[in-house]
Amino acid sequence: MSFTDRLGGLGFGGDYNPEQWPDEIRAEDVLLMAEAGVNLVTVGVFGWARVEPAPGAYDFSYFDAVMDELAAAGVTVDLATMTASPPPWLATEHPEILPVTESGTVLSPGGRQHYCPSSPVYRDRAARLVEALAAHYQAHPALGFWHIGNEYGCHVSECFCDESARDFRRWLHTRYGDIERLNAAWCTDFWSQRYTSFDQILPPRLAPTYANPAQQLDFKRFSNEALRACFELEAAILRRVTPDVPVLTNFLAHHKPVDLHSWADRMDIVGLDSYPDPFWPRSHVAAGLAYDLARGAHGGDPWYLVEQAPSAVNWRGRNGIKEPGRMRLWSWQAIAHGADAVLYFQWRQSRGGAEKFHSGMVPHGGADTRVFREVAALGAELAAVPELAGTRVANEVAVLFDWNSWWALELDSRPSDGLKAVDRALDHYGPLFDLGVGVDVLPPGADLSGYKLVVVPNLYLLTEEHAGRLADYVSAGGHLLVSFFTSVVDGNDRVHHGGCPGPLREALGLRVEEYLPAAEGETFPLAEGTADLWREDVRIEGADVLLAFPDGTPAVTRNRFAAGTVRYVTTRPDETVMRAVMAEALAEAGAEPVLPGLPDGMQAAVRSGGGREFLLLLNHTTQARTVDLPHRFHHLLAPGRPEVEQVILHPRDVAVLARHSPSEET
Ligand code: GAL
Repeated sequence: MSFTDRLGGLGFGGDYNPEQWPDEIRAEDVLLMAEAGVNLVTVGVFGWARVEPAPGAYDFSYFDAVMDELAAAGVTVDLATMTASPPPWLATEHPEILPVTESGTVLSPGGRQHYCPSSPVYRDRAARLVEALAAHYQAHPALGFWHIGNEYGCHVSECFCDESARDFRRWLHTRYGDIERLNAAWCTDFWSQRYTSFDQILPPRLAPTYANPAQQLDFKRFSNEALRACFELEAAILRRVTPDVPVLTNFLAHHKPVDLHSWADRMDIVGLDSYPDPFWPRSHVAAGLAYDLARGAHGGDPWYLVEQAPSAVNWRGRNGIKEPGRMRLWSWQAIAHGADAVLYFQWRQSRGGAEKFHSGMVPHGGADTRVFREVAALGAELAAVPELAGTRVANEVAVLFDWNSWWALELDSRPSDGLKAVDRALDHYGPLFDLGVGVDVLPPGADLSGYKLVVVPNLYLLTEEHAGRLADYVSAGGHLLVSFFTSVVDGNDRVHHGGCPGPLREALGLRVEEYLPAAEGETFPLAEGTADLWREDVRIEGADVLLAFPDGTPAVTRNRFAAGTVRYVTTRPDETVMRAVMAEALAEAGAEPVLPGLPDGMQAAVRSGGGREFLLLLNHTTQARTVDLPHRFHHLLAPGRPEVEQVILHPRDVAVLARHSPSEET
């Protein structure tokens, strides 16, 4: 049995933190959970202070009662390791665990996550707690999954304390072996930064001006790995004590400090938290990018939406609600992108504390509320389609995304501070989404051989090895679309020999002589439409110019390279032009939308498995839409699952359709 169908269907539930309430409320909780179709809850995320009220004095009695009640109610538990936020006594006894900022400020307890990831004391106490927890709950019937930590690096992703400095030096020593290799990698001959010993190296603390960028980049890598080491420490204990219980943690969507690609293979299921802003009309597109990345990071396996808001969050300046239907739509969207569970933060809205205005599945007003009714209706719907669990998404187009490049691109002293990795990825993902094309988001080292088109948004940092893989992909007949300021530096932020595009020069059939960043708000006319942000002075070395600025400077080029083609976009065209550029690249690559002819604002996705193909249709608009289907499908959300050739979707509506997989038809 795969990890994702151990629930016998899709997972539905949320963070369950009953500690905030008198004990009596739990009887009502389990009744309401049954009413809402809840089958999976995350318990104990912030439980450390309660289970270890004094050093080593573990008391699991509170959670024993909760676990027993959930087991009796048939609800599976994703049990947290409770290490996300240390109890106050630990910081009092060991203030050295507290994190320190770049400018030397010590962060105090009183919020959450007040620990230095490199702290041996924190790690030791966390490990002891996890040992005790695993031993105590290993045979509990409610235990289904382990939820390690919580949103690693959400508040404290880098620590600059002396302990972190020691750990950073160890890390550098392992990476470079000798100090001269580090000096070469960091270009320390500039600005008199040459080191003669690893002992002289510090984290990039606040300095008179720009810190060494390679040092900053390595510190981001180190900090990511320091957090990951905390995860791995716990995972190793859990895998030893309970080898059959899958482990996961919940990543934040679009979270710069934590390189999901470098963590994903260390867990059984990728968990993602997603809080799209209801006030932003393109929220669902940005969410789609995060979902496709979460799936792509784990070989296309189903992933879990571990947290989303039932309605509003409380941590933006203005916190919009999810209007009627939007929570359902966005939940189904996660499933359309391959999620096997839809969970929320949190079950019951807090009555006190910092998040009392964050929505809950059971709002302050109780179960007789719009939010609870919508939650319960969705729970019933998901329970009716268990066959979706474990099915997979497959796409013909890949978009590349890389944390190393993200980190490096957004360091100080670049030609333009307008280049933000996620925004730039969205400039490419967005048109594909609008054209109805399914996308896998992958790291640059991924196997690309099955893809018809590979899109490379500004991958500023591209190693020789990864550039070589892209060139091989094209040589073998692949189609590549690359955007400006790609392949500028190597893995240590050193400019490639000969400048941009370094090792991609032959494949692109051009070189970039000078970057021409735009002034704030400046636009450049194109034959049709405009561009902004950036232009490049390009020297053509074999590529054809498909689109030029009025002065003849290339805007889009195309080069035949061995059996494939490479397009290069030297600027940021407006949405209409970018969509046309993308459509042309798709057509040449022979890559199709999921459902050709889909009305504007609609999304279609296919999941397959168990001999069946599931077509999910999502209406992201506030108008009704009619969709003619290419085949007869069973309408799984309609009573009696009738066969249909056309569906009408109301505003923000969803349709889930199924048929036998074409390959299995006689
Ligand atoms: C997440 C976190 C939860 C809760 C939630 C509110 O970052 O894991 O504990 O704070 O945000 O949106």
